[in-house]
Amino acid sequence: MTPAAEDALALDARDPLAKFAAEFHHPFDGSGRKLVYLCGHSLGLQPKSAAGYVEQELDDWRRLGVLGHHVAGRPWIQYHERAAAPLAALVGAHAGEVVAMNSLTVNLHLMMVSFFRPQAPRTKILIEKSAFPSDRYAVVSQLAFHGLNAAQHLVEMEPRPGERHLRTEDIVERIQQERATLALVLLPSVQYLTGQALDLSPIIDAARRAGATVGLDLAHGIGNTLMTLHDWNVDFAVWCSYKYLNAGPGAIGGCFVHERHGRSADLPRFAGWWGHDAQSRFQMGPEFVPMAGAPGWQLSNPPVLSAAPLLASLEIFERADIRRLRDKSVALTGFLQRLIAERLHGEVEVITPPSVPERGCQLSLRIARPPVAAKQCHERLSDAGVVGDWREPDVLRLAPIPLYNSFSDVHAAVDALASAVGR
Ligand SMILES: Cc1ncc(COP(=O)(O)O)c(C=O)c1O
Repeated sequence: MTPAAEDALALDARDPLAKFAAEFHHPFDGSGRKLVYLCGHSLGLQPKSAAGYVEQELDDWRRLGVLGHHVAGRPWIQYHERAAAPLAALVGAHAGEVVAMNSLTVNLHLMMVSFFRPQAPRTKILIEKSAFPSDRYAVVSQLAFHGLNAAQHLVEMEPRPGERHLRTEDIVERIQQERATLALVLLPSVQYLTGQALDLSPIIDAARRAGATVGLDLAHGIGNTLMTLHDWNVDFAVWCSYKYLNAGPGAIGGCFVHERHGRSADLPRFAGWWGHDAQSRFQMGPEFVPMAGAPGWQLSNPPVLSAAPLLASLEIFERADIRRLRDKSVALTGFLQRLIAERLHGEVEVITPPSVPERGCQLSLRIARPPVAAKQCHERLSDAGVVGDWREPDVLRLAPIPLYNSFSDVHAAVDALASAVGR
């Protein structure tokens, strides 16, 4: 056994969270080989408890029909409320500031209806140049909805020439330069392609000093890095639950609205009956009276079957504790970084920032080959039973997940990557 393999076993032996891996279904290939799954940044694994949660709702529906809204084991009318406290704990919010609803892009639009209200000269939105395409589409379509074109009203931040990551000071400086015209700053907590975690607090402070509202895309942050949305004073945040939150493909997403906006009944919003004051909702009155807090932005009654696996997963997060998970994640991703440096120096470049505060679970890699050959290395890695993902044009993303990956998984993945690149 190599020293690195021995290290992996020793680290696994003293990992207090190792037991959680058995609470997830780990995929197998067609020949029954267990895959090394390092793709939780794209789709988290299924908690074994998820089936029970879904079956309970199917069973209650079968037995109770419409009565399940009130008397199901977990009554459906309040079903989404069960997610609030654990979600709030993950993002550093008060329970009334978060709500599980819709999907990320839908929530982003709903939030922009309320928090992007351009009034000349304050009409611009600042995003990063490599923003996730859906965010860019959403932002550009919101600008167009207000009769504004992207060429003049979209500010796109990119790294300095020759650099890969955005610098905090550059974002802050750009916000200051645009302070008279900036309406909204929309940034990710963790960048989907490079894995860079932004230092958000000074950026949010600068944006608020400039008089802009601030929104965050937490798709790659929630369940991954530590956040204090309430104290950061961010206006809104949106997320999906199928990545680090393990709630299943297309699962119900979520939304944060800071409590200072939670009682602003005059804030423009697109309304629906589920955002109406819960006490009087079923009086079916014609006037919309919003609930206090983030729940006041709900449109429809919650999709219980899609929310059930989220509750299963959040129950695991509560037991594991996000702070302990982050500690393990730092060690696990650090181990991946170390093995790549030791074994693949010159062959594989890590493009995620090396320092711990600037990254989450994910490392983004570039293989030192022309693009076609690099992609073939990824295919060989997949053939060897390691699941990561490829993002065009040339990025291989691997994310060891502290809830269900081991140090031995990381070791096996680097072994396979070494073979894939011919080391
Ligand atoms: C960073 C980021 N933003 C937005 C989205 C879009 O999410 P949805 O399809 O839930 O709207 C994704 C999906 O992967 C994403 O990674």
